[in-house]
Amino acid sequence: MKELLYISNSSDDTISIAKRFAKFIKNGDCIVLTGDLGAGKTKFTEGFLSYYNLEDEISSPTFNIVNEYLTSNINIYHFDVYRLADTDEFYAIGGEEYFDKGICLIEWGEQIEDALPIDYIKINFEKSDENENIRILKIEAKGKKYEEILENLKEDLD
Ligand SMILES: Nc1ncnc2c1ncn2[C@@H]1O[C@H](COP(=O)(O)OP(=O)(O)O)[C@@H](O)[C@H]1O
Ligand SMILES: [Mg+2]
Repeated sequence: MKELLYISNSSDDTISIAKRFAKFIKNGDCIVLTGDLGAGKTKFTEGFLSYYNLEDEISSPTFNIVNEYLTSNINIYHFDVYRLADTDEFYAIGGEEYFDKGICLIEWGEQIEDALPIDYIKINFEKSDENENIRILKIEAKGKKYEEILENLKEDLD
């Protein structure tokens, strides 16, 4: 499965799907989060971290580009690359070196597409015109490993 749509009706809903999604994500996996400001990328990350009971520690990485959450089992790297001018700046901060050290969640990751691993999951968040609490999540898998993850996620949601 290459693509899965999910309608989130509230911020808690986004937290909850992110937490369920996190179960399928392993060391070395890369998740790119796209969508306008306020669309829910950071909220989703908070839900993802809640799977590891790390949600209370979340802070926006806007000012330091990457926040690291290190546990005894897994490292989670939460990026916000909005303020990077280009891919070279991502290389300059050693961005690539994070990919195989843990799980990477990258807000605005489409801006550094050339530097991303070949395979990753992209989740786009779209605000609804009709209701300020609705978001349409389009979850796209690039590569076989992530297509399988999407199958499993779909089964879990059904
Ligand atoms: N369904 C929803 N999913 C996620 N966030 C929502 C939703 N409905 C309302 N919100 C609100 O929208 C805002 C999303 O902010 P944030 O996650 O920081 O966005 P981004 O990181 O994409 O800029 C939060 O204030 C959140 O409470
Ligand atoms: Mg954000």
